[in-house]
Amino acid sequence: MKVALGVSGGIAAYKAAEIVRLLQDRGIRVQVIMTRAAQEFVRPLTFAALSGEKVITDLFGTEAEQPNIDSAVEHIAVAQSIDALVVVPATADVLAKFAQGVANDFLTTLYLATTAPVVMAPAMNVNMWNHEATQSNLHTLRDRGVRIVEPGDGYLACGMTGPGRLAENEAIVAAVFGSSGRIPGPGWRDDIDHCWAYAGKNRSCPVSDQSFQRTHGLCAG
Ligand SMILES: Cc1cc2nc3c(=O)[nH]c(=O)nc-3n(C[C@H](O)[C@H](O)[C@H](O)COP(=O)(O)O)c2cc1C
Repeated sequence: MKVALGVSGGIAAYKAAEIVRLLQDRGIRVQVIMTRAAQEFVRPLTFAALSGEKVITDLFGTEAEQPNIDSAVEHIAVAQSIDALVVVPATADVLAKFAQGVANDFLTTLYLATTAPVVMAPAMNVNMWNHEATQSNLHTLRDRGVRIVEPGDGYLACGMTGPGRLAENEAIVAAVFGSSGRIPGPGWRDDIDHCWAYAGKNRSCPVSDQSFQRTHGLCAG
């Protein structure tokens, strides 16, 4: 199995290094993609050494590399080869781009090009988190089936206190696997995950998608 780990430009970017190891411990290959801003916080070399793979830092390849057909379609090749995309940390900026379908770097282009499940672990200043624009983007993404790993509440690097701390690594990795303990296929949604849990307890299902319920024999009636 292969997971793409997108690292965007927040102060918590260094914490993504531990996610590489946790995923590898589960036998997963990790392809790291860093935004330009992320490279201001952590060097790609750190992730290359940890993952044992080339780190993707640019949609158009680096100056050191001669463009060829492989690099030209790399975003599509990665999009088709991954079982999940997880973004740690997810900046307010990357949340906004994913929500709006902006595709102006490798990570945002990959998001549009992949049908794999997507997990995002946001981390930011409390006012950025609480801002109506961010909350609206989160709503759009959740609605679309992106799993948001809620940030914790506490003391933030900016000196303020409140929600915005990157969730614990174990919670992020658990979100990649879902409650089923396996990486779910395309079309995976949070409420579907809940539905499995409810179905297991033989309770009524909160999922309104009737066709999904019928296909999976869940929550009859
Ligand atoms: C020191 C510093 C720390 C930052 N920390 C965060 C952060 O934790 N979360 C966030 O959303 N943005 C943070 N930013 C702002 C982002 O780096 C900025 O929005 C950038 O454009 C994000 O680009 P990206 O989403 O392509 O990685 C920080 C900026 C600076 C200069």
